Amino acid sequence: MSDVIKLLPDAVANQIAAGEVIQRPASAVKELMENAIDAGATQIKLIIKDAGKTLIQLVDNGHGMSETDARLCFERHATSKINQASDLFSIRTMGFRGEALASIAAIARVEMKTRKAEDTMGTEMIIEGSVTQTQQPCQCPKGTNISVKNLFFNTPARRNFLKSENVEKSHIISEFMRVAIANPDIGLMMYQNGQLTHQIEQSPLKQRIVNLFGNNYNQRLVPVEEKTEIVNINGFVVKPEFAKKKRGEQFFFVNKRFIRSPYLNHAVEQAYQELIPEDMFPSFFVFLELDPDQIDVNVHPTKTEIKFQDERYIYQILKTTVKRSLGRHHITPTLDFERETAFDHLSPSKGKRVNPPSIQINPDYNPFSSGQKGGTSSRSLSGSINPAQWEKLYPDKDQVPHGPGHGKQTAITSDWDDLQSQDGKKQFLQLRSRFILVPVKSGLMVIDQQRAHERILFERFLFMLKNRKSTSQQLLFPENIHLPENDIELLREMMAQVKALGFEISEFGKNTFVVNAIPTDITENESLQDLLEGIIENYKKNKIELKLDVQTNVARSMAKKLAIRHGKTLSQEEMLALTNSLFACSMPNQSPAGKPIVTIVGEEELSGKFK
Ligand SMILES: Nc1ncnc2c1ncn2[C@@H]1O[C@H](COP(=O)(O)OP(=O)(O)OP(=O)(O)O)[C@@H](O)[C@H]1O
Ligand SMILES: [Mg+2]
Repeated sequence: MSDVIKLLPDAVANQIAAGEVIQRPASAVKELMENAIDAGATQIKLIIKDAGKTLIQLVDNGHGMSETDARLCFERHATSKINQASDLFSIRTMGFRGEALASIAAIARVEMKTRKAEDTMGTEMIIEGSVTQTQQPCQCPKGTNISVKNLFFNTPARRNFLKSENVEKSHIISEFMRVAIANPDIGLMMYQNGQLTHQIEQSPLKQRIVNLFGNNYNQRLVPVEEKTEIVNINGFVVKPEFAKKKRGEQFFFVNKRFIRSPYLNHAVEQAYQELIPEDMFPSFFVFLELDPDQIDVNVHPTKTEIKFQDERYIYQILKTTVKRSLGRHHITPTLDFERETAFDHLSPSKGKRVNPPSIQINPDYNPFSSGQKGGTSSRSLSGSINPAQWEKLYPDKDQVPHGPGHGKQTAITSDWDDLQSQDGKKQFLQLRSRFILVPVKSGLMVIDQQRAHERILFERFLFMLKNRKSTSQQLLFPENIHLPENDIELLREMMAQVKALGFEISEFGKNTFVVNAIPTDITENESLQDLLEGIIENYKKNKIELKLDVQTNVARSMAKKLAIRHGKTLSQEEMLALTNSLFACSMPNQSPAGKPIVTIVGEEELSGKFK
């Protein structure tokens, strides 16, 4: 048989490589800006026409290139930034693969003028579809002026795939902003279709953020700072009261490189826990500096993902640093930050370990199976509680499995049982519209109301999904919901489960869904649009961070969105209903996210405080 394998010509290989690196005009903007930074530029000018489809031009005052380098820079794997593989672990530059310019030149017409300070003449290069058209000496200022014209001219599929002008423009602005935040010592200008849209002077980081995001950020920013042997952290986080409904302004930079990391996002969000509602997101601008040998930046074509050698350590340090900064600025005065040191997690023996009380009751017990038909429940979940229905839905004390034969009981459940036996005498107190307090045999039981409700709803939804039991209420007028592109895919993925919980929902043309019916459990005190967006947001987060299966994820996402919040005042009746339902759950002391729900402040502990 004859040989069939051929080496692809360079131009074709470059075009294929370009597919990974240059996905849209904003990718070319990013690469050109990064090259200018690597060249030591202190002034960068970006000129865009037609959202980069017609022109992306970058002018820098960096060190420029010699005549030979100007020719070589468009070759694949041509770089001045590394020499050998081991250099990958000492990278301080943005670029290192030597493929960005080769990729861009493979799919566009590139015109470049560049000159080094010590040269009298510069070099002009014109290259189109990887083919050099012109190479000649020219007069030009020190630095590099590079224009990318007619991007994707020879890859029509890619060109057609581009989104609307506005979408592409916003991607470009995002890249520009990231570079601007990461490099406050560089002055930046941007022109769009002939108009100067951004002019940002060199300035300290805080001033730069204020310049980019508005004057009111001056009051909103809280500095974060921590130096350890492995990592230096600095930057700013935004005060909790300015949390946003969407994750917009969340920026991590590692050695000045913008990166995405759901794991580190989680660390920061954990630091804000209890300070902001669970469906809101903090804004932050956080810089991590590490020795390059502690990270691997060569894991993603666009270099926006990074592997840390010790990811868990970074997570802990980051969380603690942010938490302490928020505390120092008197945002969380009730927490004792001095006791929490960044290193506690490394030597658990150092700190006094408090084991959360655990509960073991019959895991097979099903709170929904006792005579309650799916069709008759009409509790309202979003924000209000109907105690009568609750009591009916969850079995009372006799039916809660306990006592001999149901496994070991811990203090909490037996305390609850004890309380149940004094029926009618339960006295609840609500603390700060957040905790439910009730005296029990061994002290004071404290229940987190939001987590409790989330647990109850989670088990209920999971049961509905597993047993296909749900009821719907028809809407008087069907409602249209408009969702962004990414959310649509997620909703499609969740659709079967969402329907199984009682939504009647179908796709209705471009980005629109029509809702005809909703679960009977939902009262309409929040718009359906917000409700669904919230559920999808939770689902997305769980999917990325926890990789939950669709069923568990939908149950969790719905429960989280619909649970009563901290801040909701509850009546005695409601607190009774909530606690009854909680202790009828199979895991009453663990929120779906694994957090404790109930704790008991023991009598001894209280007495100790009076010594
Ligand atoms: N604006 C610039 N000023 C000076 N030299 C530049 C500039 N842009 C590119 N170069 C030179 O051209 C080389 C190739 O650039 P290119 O962006 O293709 O690769 P890289 O930056 O080395 O790596 P990567 O592909 O990861 O970006 C660079 O290594 C650098 O020496
Ligand atoms: Mg580069």
